[in-house]
Amino acid sequence: MLGLVLLILSAVVAAQTKPKQETFVPYMTTQRKEQLSSTPSSSSSPSSGSGRGVAGWFTRNIIEPLAGPRVPEHTITDYYFFLIAKLNNGTGLYLGMFQQWWVISELQEVPDTTSSESRGNRGGNPFEAQAEAQKQEAVQAKIKKDYHGAARAYVEAAKLYEKSGSQFNIMEAASAYEDAFKAYNMAKQTENAARLFRLNERGGSRAAKVYNQLGDLLKSQDAAKAATMYSEAAELFRSDGDGRALHAIIRQAEQLCILHQYAQAFTLYNDTIIPETMSQDILQYTTRDHVLNAIIAHLGATQGDWIVLEKDLEHFEDICPDFRTSKGLSVLKSLARAEREHDAVAFRDACQEFDRLHSSGMADWQVGLLLQEKLKLEDGDLL
Ligand SMILES: *[C@@H]1O[C@H](CO)[C@@H](O)[C@H](O)[C@H]1NC(C)=O
Ligand SMILES: *[C@@H]1O[C@H](CO)[C@@H](O)[C@H](O)[C@H]1NC(C)=O
Repeated sequence: MLGLVLLILSAVVAAQTKPKQETFVPYMTTQRKEQLSSTPSSSSSPSSGSGRGVAGWFTRNIIEPLAGPRVPEHTITDYYFFLIAKLNNGTGLYLGMFQQWWVISELQEVPDTTSSESRGNRGGNPFEAQAEAQKQEAVQAKIKKDYHGAARAYVEAAKLYEKSGSQFNIMEAASAYEDAFKAYNMAKQTENAARLFRLNERGGSRAAKVYNQLGDLLKSQDAAKAATMYSEAAELFRSDGDGRALHAIIRQAEQLCILHQYAQAFTLYNDTIIPETMSQDILQYTTRDHVLNAIIAHLGATQGDWIVLEKDLEHFEDICPDFRTSKGLSVLKSLARAEREHDAVAFRDACQEFDRLHSSGMADWQVGLLLQEKLKLEDGDLL
């Protein structure tokens, strides 16, 4: 009887003294951070392998980057008597009770020693946490209808589950492989859908949209396929008189450059993208960038013919007022001059300026092309 009363009493106390949800972030960014950073890294265990202890993975990845009141995404659940806070990617779990927060578990590095593979160590398995994170990513990708991305993330998750070694996770791995297979099928089916829409007379614009979407999804993984998708989209949009055709062609040209298919890319820029953007008020300001890409692509297509480049400069300076006054033109002129005068140092400086034209720097294909030209210059000096 007394026991029961005590239990109820402590439950009431707990309910009244659980911390406020808002205190979780301050707790993580101050108290927990201090606790972890003051733990000497070697004191946790005498065995050498696990020496990193608490000052390991969690500290490096979660605690150290915490600057100001920012904590990785988390969910706080109110269980009336207490609160449970969980970092969304499964790396930490906390209990809020009696005006305080307590650590239930935090993901730590598995020491290299085999002893750590003991059963019941589920919370502490980094492979498992990574696998969960991959699975989350797959789910997000699926929501965005990025089935290729989802499939890849599922395969990654499956591999990680397999690595984590426990029997339970082998089942998880199997089901992740199964989900990957389904996602691949969905990706295939989206392409089929586009193909069928296109066969139908009135399906043209829907097909165009699907092709365009496929291009966006594929561009980070398979430039060749993305280029094909954009080109299909452009053709269909065009036959519908839809202005989105131009956008698809711009994307297609970018992919062609990535694929080093410079001649084709140049033709798209020269024949379509530049004249069309130049003739539309709202797109005029983008022309200078397309001209820049066109000229470099042309350099690639001619395998480094700088005479062609100088002609292009004149030509585009003539026809495009926006380019005439751009920083890009003066940078290209410095490049051409440096090349003409075999001045490797000036060439390098101009490349650096080129890189500063955009906050994201030069595209990789441009870096590759200019690097080649720079090497030619330097070799030329040796001859
Ligand atoms: C969990 O999120 C944190 C911060 O957002 C990140 O540093 C960490 O790598 C993530 N953990 C996993 C296993 O993905
Ligand atoms: C680029 O387009 C112009 C027409 O705008 C054309 O006269 C010129 O020949 C084209 N250049 C190349 C190299 O195809």
